[in-house]
Amino acid sequence: MTPNAGRLDGKTAIITGGSQGIGRATALRFAGEGASVVVADVNEENGRATVAEIEDAGGEAVFVATDVTEMDDAEALVDAAVDAFGTVDVLVNNAGITRDATLKKMSEEDFDRVVDVNLKGVFNCTKAAVPVMAENGGGRVLNAASIVGRYGNFGQTNYVATKSGVIGMTKTWARELGRDQITVNAVAPGFIDTAMVETVPEKVIGRLEDQTPLGRLGNPEDIANAYLFLASDDAAFITGSVLAVDGGLVL
Ligand SMILES: NC(=O)c1ccc[n+]([C@@H]2O[C@H](COP(=O)([O-])OP(=O)(O)OC[C@H]3O[C@@H](n4cnc5c(N)ncnc54)[C@H](O)[C@@H]3O)[C@@H](O)[C@H]2O)c1
Repeated sequence: MTPNAGRLDGKTAIITGGSQGIGRATALRFAGEGASVVVADVNEENGRATVAEIEDAGGEAVFVATDVTEMDDAEALVDAAVDAFGTVDVLVNNAGITRDATLKKMSEEDFDRVVDVNLKGVFNCTKAAVPVMAENGGGRVLNAASIVGRYGNFGQTNYVATKSGVIGMTKTWARELGRDQITVNAVAPGFIDTAMVETVPEKVIGRLEDQTPLGRLGNPEDIANAYLFLASDDAAFITGSVLAVDGGLVL
């Protein structure tokens, strides 16, 4: 037993969408466990604030301005991570957006934008990071799915399509990348108290809390803890899984 060892000591982790919400909580949690963290986001101000918070707590982090929808940005992100910390061990594909409307009202533009960020962004960053991981003898890819990707949700055709797609890519990559010792898993959060759910009406939130066996929304830290487990050595033999972290909302 090594006393006080961080669970991610010596690891480098890229966290897309790390400027706020679940990504920010994950960046802080990983850095607290000894990881060198690369915060990748389109929101530079919040991203730099996350990095400053990590550094103030004695951790190591850099911000890289990244639009995950651009393959060039994804490649530059991985290059920047290697420049800063020597390699990439963990990629958390967390960046995501919503543009909700019913099928009847959803514009083609809103469909395409959500697919670009939530689905193609995950493809771009994973494609860019995997060669470095493979060369390094292995790695972890962690994808942000959602319970709605398994069960659907009213008013979220585009978002649900991407989250179901992320689950499909997770399983496909687990099959393809196992021989490189790269594990690929997804986390499927329930409703988590971040900016993303601010648009959900209060009475709907109340109903969701009532339907959740644990009686509350999740915190960003609840999801960060799941990512930490899947990134840690404890999860070495887990790949292709979708871990629900939803307080029992969907059983
Ligand atoms: N909050 C929830 O209830 C919930 C539930 C299930 C799944 N999720 C998923 O978890 C992830 C994080 O959600 P959150 O609630 O923290 O959201 P959030 O809106 O608080 O944060 C999302 C982050 O992604 C960044 N981002 C958006 N577009 C980007 C792009 N093109 N390139 C790079 N970064 C970009 C944003 O700037 C922001 O910092 C998302 O993938 C979301 O779909 C959230």
